[in-house]
Amino acid sequence: MCGIVGYIGGKQAAPILIDGLARLEYRGYDSAGIAVIEPGSALIVRKAPGKLSALVDSLKGATPEGFSGIGHTRWATHGSPTEANAHPHTDCSQQVVVVHNGIVENYLALKEDLQKQGHPFASETDTEVIPHLIESYMTEGVGFEEAVRLTAQRIQGAQAVVALHVKDKGRLVAFRLGNAGGITVGYGNGEMFLASDLPALLPYTSQVAFLAPGEMVTIDAADARFRSIKGPAIRKYPQAAPYDSVAIAKEGFRHFMLKEIMEQPSMVHRAIGGKVSFEPADVHLPGFPFTDPQVREINRVVLTGMGTSLYACMVGRTYMEHIAGIPAEADNASELRYRGPILDDRTLVVSVSQSGETADTLAAMEEAARQGAKQITICNVEGSQSTRMAHGTVFIGVGPEIGVASTKCLTGALAALYLLAVRLGKARGFLNQGRVESLLNDLASVPRLIGQALEQEHLCERLSQKYGDAFNFLFLGRGINMPIAMEGALKLKEVSYIHAEGYPAGEMKHGPIALIDKSMPTVALAPSDALHDKMRSNIEEVKARGGKVIAVVTQGQHDLADIADDLIEVPLSPYLVSPMVHVAPLQLLAYYFAIKRGCDVDQPRNLAKTVTVE
Ligand code: AGP
Repeated sequence: MCGIVGYIGGKQAAPILIDGLARLEYRGYDSAGIAVIEPGSALIVRKAPGKLSALVDSLKGATPEGFSGIGHTRWATHGSPTEANAHPHTDCSQQVVVVHNGIVENYLALKEDLQKQGHPFASETDTEVIPHLIESYMTEGVGFEEAVRLTAQRIQGAQAVVALHVKDKGRLVAFRLGNAGGITVGYGNGEMFLASDLPALLPYTSQVAFLAPGEMVTIDAADARFRSIKGPAIRKYPQAAPYDSVAIAKEGFRHFMLKEIMEQPSMVHRAIGGKVSFEPADVHLPGFPFTDPQVREINRVVLTGMGTSLYACMVGRTYMEHIAGIPAEADNASELRYRGPILDDRTLVVSVSQSGETADTLAAMEEAARQGAKQITICNVEGSQSTRMAHGTVFIGVGPEIGVASTKCLTGALAALYLLAVRLGKARGFLNQGRVESLLNDLASVPRLIGQALEQEHLCERLSQKYGDAFNFLFLGRGINMPIAMEGALKLKEVSYIHAEGYPAGEMKHGPIALIDKSMPTVALAPSDALHDKMRSNIEEVKARGGKVIAVVTQGQHDLADIADDLIEVPLSPYLVSPMVHVAPLQLLAYYFAIKRGCDVDQPRNLAKTVTVE
């Protein structure tokens, strides 16, 4: 979850590290720190609890000088967000300095051993065992790089580490174990970079290489040398980075979240553009790995993910059933991995992950691989771990998503799942050509329909003023829009800290209705579809108990005008694509509620963009 940067070259390291950390703050913002080796070989470590701005303020303009260094922005797991627990961490002699992302699962045993050997500990973190272990190997006469390698063999759990040694300031050594986020190497001209994620590197280089689990790298100002943690050298060459830095700037929007909500029409258009053709109507998924006979063997689809990606899976389940004609289920990855699921080579496991690095999703994929299931991942980050684990990938393709609250990646993932279902349905003979054409025409209308739904931005802002003092919200939906109700509640919780619950509307009478009174507004998704009358009955039930209702309805549909307190009108949308349209006003509501309450929209408290720990 934490962000890591490293620099070595001819420029001052500290400003580059701080700039990189600013681009990675979405990974965690409980504390920040940098370590730089000064030309006289003094190690300077500066850290501060809180956001990166607190670190910058604490430097008071006296930025440490030196040409190599490492930096870290933390999402706390072991130990509260204090200065002592902030990274970088050092050994006893202040010679080894380390930044770390992930969890050292056996740290208690290692710490006990190291303490017995006389190593004092200054923090409550698991991380601190790493510099002490490196130091203990070096006191036995082992060189720095080898000491890092041996340390990597001693620690358990998924993690990424970058280490620097004061007497070896011309090199940075990094390794990756398991799936706790990656290490990307950036190649410059006479300078080299390391980072946990691409956005930190893109202003400096477009040539990158990725570290796979079990690999380590040593960089100097000129080049990178890769090897397996087990020992043998690995050949790896720089490749063009998949994103450009212009694409991740805010482009005049106040927050990334708003930018990413508003760019959904163009991004979804871009995402489906390259995957669909119309004469004849067809789907082209370059990363789709299975032959038609292999597809016909599939007798079940299991979709899995976490958070917003799980809600995408729940909509995807309907796509698999209605478009591909295959029995499907959607399951929370953190549950799937431990439940002892029954999977086999006739099961297609579809994982959905914006980042491709979510620990629980990757663990569920590992379980699926162990049982021999076919696997496809729906992912937005090229080169990420889920894309390396699955047999094939359908890229979401909506450009980098920086806001911690996922928005455009949900609509993009839904479009990708829809296309995957068409591809499967065609291969299985479940869809005739006419149906393929009409499904693709419906999908092609989505960018326009989302654009129209986003025209309700000012109404959503006004509603945030009207209802912004409520402490609790209920979100209700049915059918394909039920997961969208759950997503609406998640978005509101995440960015505005208002308690919200998303429910299938039919479930309301079985408990949640007890909560309803005039202080708990309900957002009801009630478009003109086959379930509209059922939704109207649920809305009547809320009103009969004095509740306030904001109804999301189809433009021109007036039967709820006298019942609901407020209407948000969205364009008439084909049923199967309607979730991509109906989610837009819910995203805007969450955004404007957060603004009204003065919340930090792009960096909500306690959250991180990518959850690389269990
Ligand atoms: C969404 O707004 C959340 N920040 C979170 O639920 C997210 O969707 C979840 O952590 C899964 O992430 P992934 O898509 O990168 O796997």
